[in-house]
Amino acid sequence: MSPTRRHVLTGAAGAAAGACLLAACGASGGDRPAEGGAPEPDEGATTGGDDGAGSGALTALADVPVGGAVLVTSSSGLKVLVAQPVEGEVVGYSSVCTHQGCTVAPAGSELACPCHGSVFDVATGEPLEGPATEPLVPFEVRVEGGDVLEA
Ligand code: FES
Repeated sequence: MSPTRRHVLTGAAGAAAGACLLAACGASGGDRPAEGGAPEPDEGATTGGDDGAGSGALTALADVPVGGAVLVTSSSGLKVLVAQPVEGEVVGYSSVCTHQGCTVAPAGSELACPCHGSVFDVATGEPLEGPATEPLVPFEVRVEGGDVLEA
């Protein structure tokens, strides 16, 4: 007995839904939290070596606002927050939120998580507002010749 048109269509839709489940349909980022949360602000992350920074640099020091931070991508593909709390002094943090893993982004003089509203101190990475209770994980950086490099 051959399948009817309706069975074929239903079967195709079921297969598509199954493929969707297997591929985590709709997810565009690999570091999104497992549950809930808003989309990550991937825009604005720069990769080391562009924007005037030297080869191998995370960013040019001049591109990091004093009292603020930028989101860059390390040579190994990690999203890293590079902050300059005081002119000429840089600190780096993993951008992975210590609450549920969303990408924390620069927000003026603070670092903010778009998923549940945690806010972190740009100078220390300590949480200023929850729900996160743990500081951002440090990422060692150094300044050399006007560039910010991975230490
Ligand atoms: S993942 Fe929940 S506040 Fe960042």
